[in-house]
Amino acid sequence: MKSQALAEILINPYNHQSVHTTEALNFEDTSGNNIPVFNGIPDFLSLEEVNGLNKKYQHLYDRFSRFSNIAERIMALFIDLNRLRRKWMTDVEVRPGYKVLETSVGTGWNIKVLPDFAEYYGLDISGGMLRQAVRNKLKWNREMQLFKGNAEYLPFKDHTFDSVFHVGGINFFNDRQRAIREMIRVAKPGTRIVIIDETAEHVRKQYRRIPFVKNYFSSEAEEVRAVAPVDLVPAEMRELEVKLMERGRMYQLSFRTV
Ligand SMILES: C[S@@+](CC[C@H](N)C(=O)[O-])C[C@H]1O[C@@H](n2cnc3c(N)ncnc32)[C@H](O)[C@@H]1O
Repeated sequence: MKSQALAEILINPYNHQSVHTTEALNFEDTSGNNIPVFNGIPDFLSLEEVNGLNKKYQHLYDRFSRFSNIAERIMALFIDLNRLRRKWMTDVEVRPGYKVLETSVGTGWNIKVLPDFAEYYGLDISGGMLRQAVRNKLKWNREMQLFKGNAEYLPFKDHTFDSVFHVGGINFFNDRQRAIREMIRVAKPGTRIVIIDETAEHVRKQYRRIPFVKNYFSSEAEEVRAVAPVDLVPAEMRELEVKLMERGRMYQLSFRTV
């Protein structure tokens, strides 16, 4: 996407100032804070020190990203990954011309299975996962604009997106409520928001059995967080719904903004 068109929808998420492009093709806010662009990906983490759980899981996914391709190939021997992802995406609303945002886009697999008549935007905290997403989008010939950032501080103007969704990270964000409020802020009124993540059962039966991954999910604290965060959704949201998927191993929380 052209940087000037991109600047139209971007802000510095920490002070909410608008941004413009610089001669070096980076972005800059009105106070002169620089947002560098690497490989076509604006890096908003250059403005933040990542800490707490966000740092722990950024580390996990930076490590995991090196094996993500091989892990997908092994999984593909047992399950049809495209079909699985399509099933997860059932309630994500996509219409021609829609601007669709995935927070925590990872390597881009969910966007791969969505219809190609919309504009896709994906943000992630892991540089490793984003590097793999860049390779994937070339391999799949799929257009998606990527951003390095924290889902708790989205670098987009209010009411930018027609559809906003998230899969697989929110349980272990530092501040889940802030992340949900940010998804609402950047969505247009009437937008369906879909949040999918693992239940405690999945943490117990899957994550604790995978070498090196299990070290990140070894305490009771992870189970306590692995529940649909219904109580963190503002009361005024409409059509609130929670459903269990994958035989109780995943939850989906969805609602519509006002
Ligand atoms: C299980 S992966 C899911 C990736 C992708 N959504 C999918 O379904 O394939 C979880 C992702 O959440 C990202 N993540 C973790 N904490 C984050 C945060 N605070 N902000 C943005 N992304 C985060 C990780 O880097 C990782 O890519």
